[in-house]
Amino acid sequence: MDLGITGRAAIVTGASTGIGFAVAKELVSNGVAVVIAARDRRRLEQAKEILLRAPGAKVASVDVDVAAPDAARTLVNKALMTFGSIDILINNAGRAHAGGLMNSSEDDWTDMTAVKLTSMRRLCREAIPHMQQKRWGRIVNMSSIGGIYPNPKLFVSHVLSAAINNLTRSLALEVAKDGILVNAIGIGAVATDNWANNMLPAVRKNRLEMSSLGDDEVLARISAELTPVGRAGTPEEIAAIAAFLSSARNGFVTGDTIEASGGADRFM
Ligand SMILES: NC(=O)c1ccc[n+]([C@@H]2O[C@H](COP(=O)([O-])OP(=O)(O)OC[C@H]3O[C@@H](n4cnc5c(N)ncnc54)[C@H](OP(=O)(O)O)[C@@H]3O)[C@@H](O)[C@H]2O)c1
Repeated sequence: MDLGITGRAAIVTGASTGIGFAVAKELVSNGVAVVIAARDRRRLEQAKEILLRAPGAKVASVDVDVAAPDAARTLVNKALMTFGSIDILINNAGRAHAGGLMNSSEDDWTDMTAVKLTSMRRLCREAIPHMQQKRWGRIVNMSSIGGIYPNPKLFVSHVLSAAINNLTRSLALEVAKDGILVNAIGIGAVATDNWANNMLPAVRKNRLEMSSLGDDEVLARISAELTPVGRAGTPEEIAAIAAFLSSARNGFVTGDTIEASGGADRFM
């Protein structure tokens, strides 16, 4: 399917690895010029180098913490100065926080909110005036299946996911008249560093019978138990949805949170 977005320009946050990298790759392969962002410069430059191997690829990078107050302006300016526009915004940077209300600290709440929600709000505010001028824009916000079916073991992450879904719907209604479509993806278990770094330690603590197993095997068993399709998802499977939502082929889906969780309502 030709997505009809050749020549468009995008920002993908959290694009040095995992789902964000897969989305950037998918957009580049569809002729989109992409600004990729993440904090660790070395890993970001490695990602850029790989993306630039695609024929005709246009990729710029900004090492930035999306939680910083000026990050949104920096990223939008980079897209404008390098590629002349900003048509597609993929708000993907973030991580999970494992724990309930009683074992999440004030800092956990403040930091997670800044990275996941406040950064999204700021990036939308910076990008939308440019999309309005062209009367075309696509925004995709990475959320979690827990925004729809909360799991108390992931309290902070899932409260913020519900807020992302609400931001997505409200903003979609606000800008629909401007040709801008805004959607979220309610992601389930997808095998990335996020899973290994933030979820696995909590699973290991609660599931002592798996203590002798390697990380991949723990993920495989948990996914088989909790996911109707019997496995974790891949970053590429999420990227395919994000690319469609970002494309000219999507003209009628807006304000939605697309569930992408292999049928599961929880993943730990
Ligand atoms: N994987 C899952 O099962 C799953 C499930 C539900 C929702 N999600 C959501 O999907 C998104 C992508 O997850 P993933 O699994 O692909 O994660 P990942 O593999 O850990 O990758 C996260 C990316 O975000 C960047 N990042 C993190 N914090 C950042 C910050 N403050 N500023 C800028 N960049 C930042 C990371 O690079 P640096 O560390 O160098 O900054 C990296 O590029 C996240 O928002 C996550 O919450 C994932």
